[in-house]
Amino acid sequence: MTTLAPTGATPQHGSTTKKPFGKTPDGQPVDLFVLTSKGGAEASVTNYGGAVVSLRVPDRNGKLADVVLGYDALDGYVNDKAYFGAIVGRYGNRIAHAQFVLDGKTYALAKNNGDNSLHGGIKGFNKAVWTAKTFSVQDSQSLELSYLSKDGEEGFPGNLKVTVTYTWTDANALRIEYSATTDKKTVVNLTNHSYFNLAGQGSGDILGHLLTIEADQFTPVDSGLIPTGELRDVMGTPFDFRKATDIGARINQDDEQLKLGGGYDHNFVLRMPMDHGEYLAARVLEPASGRVLEVRTTEPGVQFYTGNFLDGKTPGKGGHPYPRRNAFCLETQHFPDSPNQPKFPSVVLNPGERYHTVTTYKFSTEK
Ligand code: GLA
Repeated sequence: MTTLAPTGATPQHGSTTKKPFGKTPDGQPVDLFVLTSKGGAEASVTNYGGAVVSLRVPDRNGKLADVVLGYDALDGYVNDKAYFGAIVGRYGNRIAHAQFVLDGKTYALAKNNGDNSLHGGIKGFNKAVWTAKTFSVQDSQSLELSYLSKDGEEGFPGNLKVTVTYTWTDANALRIEYSATTDKKTVVNLTNHSYFNLAGQGSGDILGHLLTIEADQFTPVDSGLIPTGELRDVMGTPFDFRKATDIGARINQDDEQLKLGGGYDHNFVLRMPMDHGEYLAARVLEPASGRVLEVRTTEPGVQFYTGNFLDGKTPGKGGHPYPRRNAFCLETQHFPDSPNQPKFPSVVLNPGERYHTVTTYKFSTEK
């Protein structure tokens, strides 16, 4: 194990350590970076898929628990199909019929979800080995990950240079900054696929977590989970989380959209302020531990997913199985299938432009 930063760390400061996390099937070594805040809370991230492997944060009595699902070892991430903790790209969520048109040219993508493309294709950014660099400033520890997604990878046009920087602050906030540039017109939609359980990973379902989403509308889907194009008001539906509500309060209602998703698996249209800075997208409280997660983002949407496809068959960290609805995801993003939906905010990136988004997951507690 190597201590990387800061030099001469004392308990009054945070620290970053790096340890080997194994080798990929083709022999590439990957590492685990443990970013520790001044107070002892910890974020561990691997440069394999940029996955957040663990987040150890205090409850209202100061007791740390790991609040994300994941695996103890690299092979879990190599075989993973649930995207635990990973960076998702080049296009987060689905693109209908795995194709889109740019400047009159049709691009055919890898199909990995029925007829559709999901989360970047067969080998998305979650299966890439990223180049890692660490740095720290007074009150935070950062891990900068870079990856070159080559022209034509999974069918997407343009060499895309991507940088994702994770910063773990002394205020127990995980700030994720995504940047990208391209040499050909392309589409980009990057997110992080952490699965949260604020009572601690492996401790049961998340139906009793109280959720608020700052959205007046959501994007209903068809049977392939592709948005129909409609922006539907949440009012009067089980998608109304404008006031804190138990995730499980309405999840089994006889509602067409909940049935299509097998629970919540929908993009919410965030109420965006005019200044384009980071704004509050969602807040979650786990009443027993008092742990609170606040999600802030510059993105226009968030995919709220209740782990409906988890089946408890693959053991996770500490041997915990993760049955259905044992975690929730809040994937900040542009809307699914935007390349084929002219009314949705654009996901096109041109040469000379810089893709840049920021999302922060901040942990605190409530009495
Ligand atoms: C997203 C999708 C879900 C599912 C998960 C990964 O949240 O919307 O349908 O594919 O990723 O399992």
